[in-house]
Amino acid sequence: MNIIIFGPPGAGKGTQSDFIIKKYNLFQLSTGEILRNEIKNKTDLGLKIASIMNSGLLVSDIEVGKLIEKFISKREFKNRFIFDGYPRNLSQAENLDFLLKKYGQKIDLVLKLKVSIDTIKKRIQGRSVCSICGKIYNEYFNPAPTKSDCCAPKFLQKRSDDTLEIAIKRFETYEKNIEPLLNFYKKIDLLKEVNGEASIPQINVEISDLIDGMEGWL
Ligand code: AP5
Repeated sequence: MNIIIFGPPGAGKGTQSDFIIKKYNLFQLSTGEILRNEIKNKTDLGLKIASIMNSGLLVSDIEVGKLIEKFISKREFKNRFIFDGYPRNLSQAENLDFLLKKYGQKIDLVLKLKVSIDTIKKRIQGRSVCSICGKIYNEYFNPAPTKSDCCAPKFLQKRSDDTLEIAIKRFETYEKNIEPLLNFYKKIDLLKEVNGEASIPQINVEISDLIDGMEGWL
């Protein structure tokens, strides 16, 4: 089973992907995370893309396409993907389709988290990520445990693109590209919309119901 999860910045794609991979033994392919690692490791690509990511724009389709093929081609991940943050435009959707066919796979379900801009602003401003385990928290909605070795306050970090100004730019980039992408998946009847405004556990349940209801899955 391969799943795509869409949604604007801060919609909860990473949060829900973390839940889905554990429940269904899938592999989370987060292009944002992969690109942030390139920056952290100061690779040639990382040096090229840091300013793009911090201005809320998309990294080139060709560069991101090369990165995702490395994962899609691996046998151990075959038919176990949740694509978090890829595709982001029509050209990426066409490339994903091409790559999946090349490696004998397909998309089974496309989830779209629907969230308003006001919610996004609050979620992004409150977000922190544990630098040890990568778990995502939120000071308003989902605070980190106070008694934990791993996710202690000293290990929590803010993302450099989580300012209000960059978040608005990221939202505009999302809005500009999303319509043709949604139509692409509507035409092949894979798109399901999920209320991203609900609580994290409520969304867990809604997504589980959609996955469990997929024909031939269980
Ligand atoms: P990426 O890292 O993918 O960022 P994004 O799409 O902007 O999404 P976020 O990671 O901000 O949010 P999320 O939806 O995962 O929300 P989360 O679960 O963390 O991409 C970053 C950049 O990389 C892009 O801007 C671009 O430059 C580049 N890039 C990435 N992919 C690319 C591609 N394919 N092509 C080109 N460039 C690419 O939740 C947010 C917060 O809300 C958390 O604090 C969480 O605890 C909280 N929360 C989550 N759900 C709920 C809920 N239901 N109720 C209350 N709080 C909640």
